[in-house]
Amino acid sequence: MENLTYYYPRRKEPALLNVNLEIDTGEFVLITGPSGGGKSTLCRCFNALIPNFYGGRISGRVTVMGKDVAASSTSELSQHVGMVFQNPEDQITRMSVEAEMAFGLENLGVERNEISRRIKEVAEILRISDLLKRPVETLSSGQQQKVAIGSVLVMRPQILVLDEPTSELDPKSAKDLIDLIARLNTELGITVIIVEHRLNFILDKVDRVVIIKGGRVSMDGSPQEVLRSGEVAQLGVSLPRAVQLYHMLAEMGLRLQDVPLSVEDLEVELRGALRWAR
Ligand SMILES: Nc1ncnc2c1ncn2[C@@H]1O[C@H](COP(=O)(O)OP(=O)(O)O)[C@@H](O)[C@H]1O
Ligand SMILES: [Mg+2]
Repeated sequence: MENLTYYYPRRKEPALLNVNLEIDTGEFVLITGPSGGGKSTLCRCFNALIPNFYGGRISGRVTVMGKDVAASSTSELSQHVGMVFQNPEDQITRMSVEAEMAFGLENLGVERNEISRRIKEVAEILRISDLLKRPVETLSSGQQQKVAIGSVLVMRPQILVLDEPTSELDPKSAKDLIDLIARLNTELGITVIIVEHRLNFILDKVDRVVIIKGGRVSMDGSPQEVLRSGEVAQLGVSLPRAVQLYHMLAEMGLRLQDVPLSVEDLEVELRGALRWAR
């Protein structure tokens, strides 16, 4: 994204302002920030839902896999960029899991055998092979969200964009889903861009954290770099307890070497710091 600025129709304030973001193949990028900051808007630009579907005024440039998004259709881009949204019900329309996963490929005119092959392969990766015949509406939210991911993975996208995919899930299912997404990144090499505001399960897995606030990129760096800054504590994102404690200790004058991402990390950091103090 180069100097990307975007206004929704009839809006005086831009939803995105001068966004510059370069994401490499294979990166696992967490996008977070306060509500209303522009995260979902940003996601909609990767497959040209903005401006094709939402209208409004856009300036600057979005390039995906070397293609200028402005010159591509959303269906063409869906072969490169898979989109998964917050609410699984929004994207699940058909009856069985199998039929749901076949839908996009049928629209592209992919041959029957090839469709079956890809569904089987993706179902194994997602561990939902036993659910293929089940009506989607009988599944749990966590399972439905896996089906939503399956429906885009059968298209073999190089890039997966997920907008708060765990927000409807209980903590256990959320953690499972994040672990699964991390595997898609490490084992299949898929570039993952994920929006989350619950950061507990994900900070130790991502390569990079981008904070979007007021339509701008307000921070962009490794988890360590971003979390070390005091700014992150003021953003209204829910930080892991260990990170909150790091900032509390820093205010009290105890600056730990690294930002702990888990309680186990915190223990290691504290033991190190106490050894120094003696
Ligand atoms: N469909 C829409 N039409 C008009 N304004 C919108 C629409 N969607 C979001 N906005 C506005 O754009 C800004 C960014 O919203 P959004 O991208 O949804 O933020 P986030 O996902 O970070 O919560 C907000 O001011 C919001 O009100
Ligand atoms: Mg949003």
